[in-house]
Amino acid sequence: EKEGYAHFMMKEINEQPRGVYETLHRRLDKEDNIVLDGIKITKEDLDKINKVYIVACGTAYHAGLVGKYAIEKFAKIPVDVEVASEFRYRDPFVDENTLFIAVSQSGETLDTLAALREAKRKGARILSVVNVVGSSVARESDDVFYTWAGPEIAVASTKAYTTQLISMYLLSLHMAMTKGTLTEEQYKAYIKELKEMPDKIQAILDDHETIQQLADEQFNNENVFYIGRGLDVTVAYEGSLKLKEISYIHSEAIAAGELKHGTIALIEEGRLVVALATQDKLYDKMLSNIQEVRARGAYVIGVAKKGNKEIEKSADKVIYIPDTLDELTPILSVIPLQILAYYIAVARGCDVDKPKNLAKSVTVE
Ligand code: F6R
Repeated sequence: EKEGYAHFMMKEINEQPRGVYETLHRRLDKEDNIVLDGIKITKEDLDKINKVYIVACGTAYHAGLVGKYAIEKFAKIPVDVEVASEFRYRDPFVDENTLFIAVSQSGETLDTLAALREAKRKGARILSVVNVVGSSVARESDDVFYTWAGPEIAVASTKAYTTQLISMYLLSLHMAMTKGTLTEEQYKAYIKELKEMPDKIQAILDDHETIQQLADEQFNNENVFYIGRGLDVTVAYEGSLKLKEISYIHSEAIAAGELKHGTIALIEEGRLVVALATQDKLYDKMLSNIQEVRARGAYVIGVAKKGNKEIEKSADKVIYIPDTLDELTPILSVIPLQILAYYIAVARGCDVDKPKNLAKSVTVE
């Protein structure tokens, strides 16, 4: 059932155009309005909500970080994102004007479920973004947004993440249009771009050999850093987690501007740095950060939007993603990082689908 792929993970990486397409198109009517069947939040409800918490674990938490950015930017509601195991034990400020969003592929992660129950007890409205239909998280929520990734078998999450991103964008755009915080024109531009994502993801997948080559050159590196600014940091976290969990290489992701506040001490000859530079506003800043780490001997793989060639002067190698709106780049920039982690793990002879010490669904503390 791996359909010719060596691992479920690679099969699932390749299923992302489909998963993204389904998650998106099942929510758009003929006029491209977002229709959310499982969500009953009215304009009145939304006007009352003055705080959103997005709570999740691991990769789902990383999708939540993008959700914060999108909800704050489009719908103008303050958002906190927190890992579930922290949220549930710290007496967070939650009341009936809080919207609590749980993000979970399995819908069975114990910490996420416990955090949800705690928020519910305090009167919050509970919305969940879940992949497994009828799972515990879905059943205990007021509103449910199902991602249409299909079953995810590999322990390392890939297609669940990209479909969670689509959910975050659709939810935030829906909130924004209900509240009137985006113009029709802005809305149309985002939807138009979202609809192009399946093809743009496919274009990156078609070029996987370039990334495989990089992996074959770099698989022996025992310390890998991922850096970025703005939305790129959230993708850096996810890329780093993918690498750690399947290749057992030590890795760290950090906001590039934080490097000089400590972590740059670890950058020395031969260290691999993956530098995401997809945000137009922050592009020049990232180029300086790349020069900083290069000056200390790091080997830098840059990730940039097609056309932004300036980066070739600073990075050793560049992976280009198709051009898109800055707000939406995570859907594309994560793909090469998933592929890179995969091929590095394969080159090291790791059991990609079943990494040691990890379970697909964490139903214990
Ligand atoms: C990483 C990974 C985990 C999960 C986390 C949450 O690749 O798969 O970090 O994302 O355990 O799981 P769910 O989404 O099922 O709650």
